[in-house]
Amino acid sequence: MSATIKLENKHFPVLLKEFISIISPLYGGTFIDCTFGQGGYSKKILEKKNNNVIAVDRDIAAYLYAKELKHKYKNRFHFQNIKFSEINKIKLKTNDLKAVIFDLGYSINQIKDLSKGLSFQSKGKLNMQMGLNSFSSHEVIANMKEDNLNKIFKFFGDERCAKRIARKIIEVRKKKIIDTETLTKIVDEVKKFKNYKINNSTKVFQALRIFVNKEISELIDGLINAYQILPVGGIITVVTFHSLEDKIVKFFFKNYSETKNSSRYVPDKEKNVTYFKLHKKKPLTPSIEELKLNPPSRSAKLRYATKIRNHCNFDELKKKFKYLLDIENLEFTK
Ligand SMILES: C[S@@+](CC[C@H](N)C(=O)[O-])C[C@H]1O[C@@H](n2cnc3c(N)ncnc32)[C@H](O)[C@@H]1O
Repeated sequence: MSATIKLENKHFPVLLKEFISIISPLYGGTFIDCTFGQGGYSKKILEKKNNNVIAVDRDIAAYLYAKELKHKYKNRFHFQNIKFSEINKIKLKTNDLKAVIFDLGYSINQIKDLSKGLSFQSKGKLNMQMGLNSFSSHEVIANMKEDNLNKIFKFFGDERCAKRIARKIIEVRKKKIIDTETLTKIVDEVKKFKNYKINNSTKVFQALRIFVNKEISELIDGLINAYQILPVGGIITVVTFHSLEDKIVKFFFKNYSETKNSSRYVPDKEKNVTYFKLHKKKPLTPSIEELKLNPPSRSAKLRYATKIRNHCNFDELKKKFKYLLDIENLEFTK
């Protein structure tokens, strides 16, 4: 879920102050906002007259908010309804790109849109598509083999009861169609004891959302493409919301900003070549004030790095997370 909240119809994007302090030294150029949402970050950047924003979101509903910014900022703002794994296809008219920005996850509007079925509080047919998807969680739950369901819950949700939940799904779907409520009931039955910290179904829903939206390959391709389109001196900033995405972002920045000689995947001529300057090893996290105002922001982590070299071989990144990419590509045959 996103760490953006709605208070009296006002949206509060997570870690906004920290984010602005990172990118403001680069002001006077173009910024790509890969996760436009309700435009919290874009709006703040556009407040400065010599900045331009190209915003991207896979959810067409974001267009409503984009229209407002287009009206106000005219040619300084452009919106595209594409996935951020495709940002390399954006035709940049200038060579003043300063930063590529990711605020991963979901906006509160998406979670509250019950037809999207992203939340376990939704009712009716399973869905979980954020936008521009090729299948829904209904098809996954209705067709996927038990062992593959187990893998999704285990690796994408870190769900301890993955195996038993997968087995129960197979049993129940022989008798009826599994909708959102049935799925939460199945999880409750398997787990028996209520977890008072998080909803019993949180991990299963997270796992299915990651699978349906192909979030692992989206993130890996998005990061690589961000690096490719940025000129040297540009910054990539990423806010993550759960440990799986943070693991990928951390590896991406850290692995390619340290000189080392160890990996067998790296050709000799590329050893000791760093792609980034990492400003901080530890991520930025919300202040106590922000946590008070917006408790869901507690899981947010902001990592960033400056591109220092035009060089590109991300084989190590892909090898490291191949086990997750393989799960994302599992078939759903019975
Ligand atoms: C947490 S919200 C962003 C909130 C935004 N920063 C704001 O201040 O309003 C994340 C947004 O990213 C979008 N998104 C997630 N994955 C995406 C992807 N692979 N490509 C494009 N948009 C994506 C979601 O549809 C959602 O609108």
